[in-house]
Amino acid sequence: MQECWSFEAVGRPSFAQLSSFLDDHSEEESNAPRRNPVISRQEMALAYSMKQSHLQNPENWEIDPIDIKMNEEVLGKGHFGEVYKASLHGRIVAVKTIKPGAPMTEEQFIKEAETTRFLSHENIVRTIGVCSYKPYIVIEFLPGGSLKKYLNNLNVRNITLSPTENLEIARQIACAMTHLEKNNYIHRDLAARNILVG
Ligand SMILES: Nc1ncnc2c1ncn2[C@@H]1O[C@H](COP(=O)(O)OP(=O)(O)O)[C@@H](O)[C@H]1O
Ligand SMILES: [Mg+2]
Repeated sequence: MQECWSFEAVGRPSFAQLSSFLDDHSEEESNAPRRNPVISRQEMALAYSMKQSHLQNPENWEIDPIDIKMNEEVLGKGHFGEVYKASLHGRIVAVKTIKPGAPMTEEQFIKEAETTRFLSHENIVRTIGVCSYKPYIVIEFLPGGSLKKYLNNLNVRNITLSPTENLEIARQIACAMTHLEKNNYIHRDLAARNILVG
């Protein structure tokens, strides 16, 4: 793990090496006696269950605004605008919006969503579709919100994650990054505020 801090990029392990290392380590850890976990593995899973995967059909990429019922609740502020809770055909979703004066045009905003259209991985939030007319980007709703908020909440409640739980978070992030790397994408803004908890 020391190599992660190497100044030279060539000396650092790839995400694939990291996730395989974390896999082995998680196995060793799970064989060790555990103190009471503060949250269950299932609860902290960053991977969102595949339950809603039928919502995403690449053929129905363009969504009719009439099908989206916006909720007043703001889930968070993104780089380009607010993210709202909404419902699509009766299912809860998150809707990304773009604010006036954002550093990109509405067309670029919608086009950016294209990059995530065919990404399918258990540790990567699904983009369900776009509403170019509004413009909205409709994504799976993750009830845990951002990892940053999630960790801050635990901190306020004086709850410390066990090494196993921390490793599990790191493992899932490394798996997601490995998948992006395989598809020739670079995240460029990997931070706890951009990780969502399922
Ligand atoms: N799918 C989602 N489910 C729940 N909350 C979300 C979702 N997407 C975003 N959020 C909330 O909105 C915030 C900003 O979202 P983010 O994806 O970082 O937007 P941007 O890409 O514009 O920076 C997140 O930190 C999180 O609190
Ligand atoms: Mg962000």
